[in-house]
Amino acid sequence: MSYNNILSETSNSICFITINRPNKLNALNKETIEELHEAFKEADEDKEIKVIIITGSGEKAFVAGADISEFANFSVSEGKRLAAKGQEILFDFIENLSTPVIAAVNGFALGGGLELAMACHFRIASHNAKMGLPEVSLGVIPGYGGTQRLPNLVGKGRAMEMIMTAGMIDANQALSYGLVNHVTSQEELIANCEKIAEKISRNSSIAISATIRAINANYIDGVDGFEVEINEFGNCFGTDDFTEGTTAFLQKRKAEFPGS
Ligand code: COA
Repeated sequence: MSYNNILSETSNSICFITINRPNKLNALNKETIEELHEAFKEADEDKEIKVIIITGSGEKAFVAGADISEFANFSVSEGKRLAAKGQEILFDFIENLSTPVIAAVNGFALGGGLELAMACHFRIASHNAKMGLPEVSLGVIPGYGGTQRLPNLVGKGRAMEMIMTAGMIDANQALSYGLVNHVTSQEELIANCEKIAEKISRNSSIAISATIRAINANYIDGVDGFEVEINEFGNCFGTDDFTEGTTAFLQKRKAEFPGS
C-alpha cells in the first residue's frame, strides 16, 4: 500500500515504518495517524514479519507531537473524540499488537511523539534525542496515554515533574530514567535496533506474543497478571513452537520455529 505521510518497507523479516513529514518535524496529523494504523495492522497480520521498527525521517525529529494546527480550534467534545480515537486506533493498538514494536527515537519525541514511543514495546534513542510532554505549555494535557504510560515507565514523581514543567530531557537522562533501553549514535541507531530485532526474530513468535499479553496484563485495572501468565504459559504447551523449541534443545540443535 502507498501512503502520503509514512513509508513502510520490509527487509529480513523486519518491517520499517518511517513517519515522513520532515518539514513538520513528523508531527502527527489525522491522516498520518490513520496511515500508521493501516501500516501497523498490515505488518501485524503478515506472519513473515517478526519485528516492527518505527522511526522519523530526517535527522531532527522522531515526532514533534500531535499536529497543533489541526486541533487549535477544537471544542470540548472534539478534543475528547480526538484523544479517544487516537488512543484506540494507534496508541493502544500498537501496545497490544502481537508483533514486537521498537521505537528508534532519532531526535525530538515530544507530546504525541513521546506518547507514540511509549506505546511501543521498548525504545532505543540516538544521542541527539530530546523527550518531553510539553502539552501544559499549550494549555492542554497529554491525551494519547502520556499521563498513564509515563508514570509507569519513569515513576510518578518524575512524570509529574516532566509534565508540569513541560521540559525536555536528553537521551542520557531518559536512559537513567528507564524511558529508553539504550542510547547510540544517530548513524548506528537503526543498525542497533536491527541487531536487537534479529535476536527477537530467532525466538518463538507465538511465545513472544504471549509475553506481550502477559506483561501488558500487569497494567490493566482489575486484571490479575499472574493469572494471565498462568494461562498464557499453559497455552504455549499446545503450540508447534513449544514442540520444536524443546525438541531442538534435547537434540542439541538450533530451533526452527514454525510460528504456530
Ligand atoms: N504541530 C504542527 N507543526 C509542528 C509541530 C507540531 N507539533 N512541531 C513542529 N512543527 C512545524 C513548525 O510549525 C514548523 O513548520 P513551518 O516551517 O511551516 O513553520 C516546522 O515544523 C519546523 O519546526 P520549528 O519550530 O521551526 O523548528 P525548531 O527547530 O525551531 O523547534 C521544536 C523545534 C520541536 C522545539 C518546536 O518545533 C516545537 O516546540 N514544536 C512543538 C512541540 C509540542 O508542543 N508538541 C506537543 C504538541 S501537543
